Amino acid sequence: KAKAKAKVKAKAKAKAESKEVKSAGNFKVCVCGGAGGIGQPLSMLMALDPNVKELCVFDLSVAMVPPAGVAADLGHLERKSDVKGYVMEVGQKPIDNLKECLTGCDLVLVPAGMPRKPGMTRDDLFKVNADIAKGIVEACAKFCPEAVLGLIVNPVNSIVPAMAELYKKKGLDPLKIVGITTLDVVRANKFSGEITGKNPNYINVPVIGGHAGTTILPLFSQDKVAKTIDAEKIPDLDKHVQDAGTDVVNAKSGKGSATLSMAYAGARLGKSILAGLMGKKRIECAYVKSDITDLPYFASKVQFGEKGVTKVLPLGELSDYEKKRLEEVKTQLKTEIDSGLKYAEENS
Ligand code: LMR
Repeated sequence: KAKAKAKVKAKAKAKAESKEVKSAGNFKVCVCGGAGGIGQPLSMLMALDPNVKELCVFDLSVAMVPPAGVAADLGHLERKSDVKGYVMEVGQKPIDNLKECLTGCDLVLVPAGMPRKPGMTRDDLFKVNADIAKGIVEACAKFCPEAVLGLIVNPVNSIVPAMAELYKKKGLDPLKIVGITTLDVVRANKFSGEITGKNPNYINVPVIGGHAGTTILPLFSQDKVAKTIDAEKIPDLDKHVQDAGTDVVNAKSGKGSATLSMAYAGARLGKSILAGLMGKKRIECAYVKSDITDLPYFASKVQFGEKGVTKVLPLGELSDYEKKRLEEVKTQLKTEIDSGLKYAEENS
């Protein structure tokens, strides 16, 4: 009898716990900057995800097209997602305008801010993009504090620490702020596939550190295909991944940076985050608050689960080349993290 009672109790407990996990197909997602170059394809890829019930496309009235137009367009896809557009005038504050848009959101993807022009570094965008990100992040803190925020705002290396510290100061979980570095993984996989002649779909190179220049460190030694690449080819391949964003900026001749591949990468992470929230754990690289190195923010493999980031995973074994590069990563990344921390200090 006691055994049966314990069984009933355990069942009730499991049921209560499972209530915290959302069921498949029930998520509300917002794309802030959803009518822009990254935002439109990202919104489309998220609208196609069977886990998305409601998709909010938010942007400024000066965006490439009105967000209501993007929503009307995506609203014709034969998917269950209900797509809504939200617009705001330049100079208005998200916190005064996004209540309906953000309330109930599980995931907010933020491809916002100015893109680079040839000759610029990501760091050159810091001041203007930090203020844009701050407006959105403060609105999320108010209307959907439990949501995971995926930031595609450059320079990611400084913006993520700045925004996570702002969350911390509000008593919110800084791990809700996730820097999207998935495109570095996508590029490392693609370029490894090109060199080996293997399908990049079956390659998964973790990329650690950050998302700018030398801070991007692909760990080719940790993938079964990429580790077969000749050691003497690795420095050039590493540089190819580091410079890939700049190559796109140059190829677009002043008309923006990576949009389509960034949307693809952002959606890969977004879908993994939703799967995690549903209780299906996923591992992806991301740039988050971290204690796996001596730096307070770092990109590494992260486990996404019921609450978003559930574990920041250790770096694992590195080759001698990767160990040397890690030192270079840390020197550069520290300066960029410090700019973010200073911004949070001065702007909270
Ligand atoms: C990228 O990696 O493509 C983005 O960060 C955009 C850029 O400025 O390079």
